[in-house]
Amino acid sequence: MKRSKGIVVKTPEQLAGCRRAGQAAADVLRIVCGAVRPGMTTKELDDFAARTMADLGCRSADFGYCGYPAQTCISVNEAVIHGVPRESVTIREGDVVSVDITVECGGFVGDNARTVIVGEAPPEVRALVETTEKALAAGIAMARAGNRVGDISHAVEVVANAARLGIVHEYVGHGCGLDMHEEPEIPNWGPSHRGPPLQAGMVLCIEPMLTLGSRRIRVLEDDGWTVVTCDGKPAAHAEQMIAVTDGAPEILTPR
Ligand code: MF3
Ligand code: CO
Ligand code: CO
Repeated sequence: MKRSKGIVVKTPEQLAGCRRAGQAAADVLRIVCGAVRPGMTTKELDDFAARTMADLGCRSADFGYCGYPAQTCISVNEAVIHGVPRESVTIREGDVVSVDITVECGGFVGDNARTVIVGEAPPEVRALVETTEKALAAGIAMARAGNRVGDISHAVEVVANAARLGIVHEYVGHGCGLDMHEEPEIPNWGPSHRGPPLQAGMVLCIEPMLTLGSRRIRVLEDDGWTVVTCDGKPAAHAEQMIAVTDGAPEILTPR
């Protein structure tokens, strides 16, 4: 494998592995999001995700990562990311549920996330979720050889700002594939034309985390993981893993 400033440029064989892991992560995400029902606890959803991963021949990359205690991250309403599934959190009608699935498959890692609304929600909440997907798409569109990481960041920021949403600054997208978190970091804001140049063969996770109120966040003390908004307003998170090519970005985690 070749490295440029710590950023892994994948070989064709490694890209094939990333593709399989990405597809598995996407399959698990689709199946788990499709299983979300009011009345379920986030722990039940986590158990279901673990069974789905086993059925598809992969396993959670989250479990045990820096001591992470669950198979997935499920972040409800004011939880932004890294929501630890629990028996005490029951999903209700109107909830905003972010599901983040990271799998290990054949020695490679696939990572993707989506936010679903359970039943009906007010227009501003629907706009939050839709804008987060739009911001992700705008970031992905900039993931082309010759552009820089800042072009992705800036494109995400423009979409979020236009919708007057908060952008979480403390957590970022990342390289992925051989490890869950590789260089470079991909912030969801910042100037274009800055940061590491993108090259064909880089595999990146782009993941806007947007809030309906203030962008300020904190980590819940009782589990040391769940990131919540300080003002208690809902947040949304969307993530896809892509490969930079000589042309359009290749989506490794198709929706
Ligand atoms: N899926 C997350 C990401 O998008 C990382 C999971 S953190 C863990 O980068 F602790 F749950 F593993
Ligand atoms: Co993720
Ligand atoms: Co990620």
